[in-house]
Amino acid sequence: MSYTIITNQREILKILQKLHFHSNLNRFRDSDKQQEAMLIAMESDDVLMALALNNENIIGYAIILSPESDERWIRLNYLKMLGVIEVAPEFRNQKVGQKLLQALFRLAETENYIIISLEYCWHWDLDMTNGDPILYKNMLKHVLESVGFEEFHTNEPDIACYDVNFMMARVGSKITLSQLYDFANLAIQSNVDL
Ligand SMILES: CC(C)(COP(=O)(O)OP(=O)(O)OC[C@H]1O[C@@H](n2cnc3c(N)ncnc32)[C@H](O)[C@@H]1OP(=O)(O)O)[C@@H](O)C(=O)NCCC(=O)NCCS
Repeated sequence: MSYTIITNQREILKILQKLHFHSNLNRFRDSDKQQEAMLIAMESDDVLMALALNNENIIGYAIILSPESDERWIRLNYLKMLGVIEVAPEFRNQKVGQKLLQALFRLAETENYIIISLEYCWHWDLDMTNGDPILYKNMLKHVLESVGFEEFHTNEPDIACYDVNFMMARVGSKITLSQLYDFANLAIQSNVDL
């Protein structure tokens, strides 16, 4: 199976306007609604996206964006979030996910940020691991670790209150020790003095 990964943000905008999301890209919303949401997100300068294309079909995507204003993470101007990564089921386990992330992290600006990924089991496609969330978690960790993410502890309720949910973070090479220290503190204490 051949596919192309696109990270040129202007090209992505054109592709999103012209081509279609594979109909099975539906873990988060119906594929056409998700495509619309990605198009709206791309209107912000703040967003970085990568797309995977197979025969003029969008078969996977990943997006990095800023935290919402009501999230604790907004307090760190050097923090961004891996919002979503999704690959159509027919194309999974063929490195599309890892290639999407590798392409995103080749973009120089990502080195200026701590990028976090909040992993909630209600978004997972547990059919892939016969309903086993631990196996799914291991798969996701493997994919994220392949581009330098590591697990961090947080008391964020949607993570801390569910055994299988977890947070990963990738610390860019330009992040200082003091920025990392503030991040680790904010992760375990939302109202910490920074
Ligand atoms: C997560 C997701 C994007 C991964 O995409 P993908 O294209 O299948 O990923 P890749 O093929 O690059 O990598 C999958 C890796 O997991 C490995 N893997 C599979 N099952 C595993 C397990 N139980 N434990 C550890 N690793 C496992 C595969 O061997 C492969 O690694 P390798 O290529 O180094 O051998 C895809 O599964 C998906 O879209 N899931 C639904 C949406 C989702 O859960 N998104 C994440 C939350 S936002």
